[in-house]
Amino acid sequence: MPCTCHRTPEPMPSSSPQTNRMRIDLTVNGADVSLDLDTRTTLLDALREHLRLTGTKKGCDHGQCGACTVIVNRERINSCLSLAVQHSGDEVTTIEGIGSPDNLHPMQAAFVKHDGYQCGYCTPGQICSAVTVLKEIEAGVPSYVTDDLTTDVPTTRAEMAERMSGNLCRCGAYANIHDAMAEAAEAGDVA
Ligand code: FES
Ligand code: FES
Repeated sequence: MPCTCHRTPEPMPSSSPQTNRMRIDLTVNGADVSLDLDTRTTLLDALREHLRLTGTKKGCDHGQCGACTVIVNRERINSCLSLAVQHSGDEVTTIEGIGSPDNLHPMQAAFVKHDGYQCGYCTPGQICSAVTVLKEIEAGVPSYVTDDLTTDVPTTRAEMAERMSGNLCRCGAYANIHDAMAEAAEAGDVA
């Protein structure tokens, strides 16, 4: 029988070199931007690879860790699960738009005070989520653990933990994150 070990491999079927591209206009951290993108580009990759806003992190890239959380039109989303072309005309806020080292957002200052991080990889997503969570509670949006749907939603640790459950922290800084959120909520200055 002839040896087949060194047989020339069959050529792989060529993938189509043609990709669909689209121009999108959106507002990122208050600045108008226009991007020409492969339509398969996620919002996460558009932010990191095309706008160089690397504060938003890629953890799992399939909606399980929350590291990629950004705020779109005042709601938090996992940017890895959303195509950039879905967001033309939207307002996107990333961690870079929340505060800066010289001018920390109150939630960022509370995270620093309470050691709400260790390695910091999840922190941008945690803070984008935490800021939005307090606004959700303030707006009376109930969660799975809200007992009474007829009154204001209380800013309890149970409410905060439930709403932050999509933001994983491999370092386990959860208790300190909740302390930081409780302080920011009490101060009432997370606008
Ligand atoms: S990177 Fe998006 S949820 Fe993990
Ligand atoms: S601080 Fe390390 S993963 Fe959260």
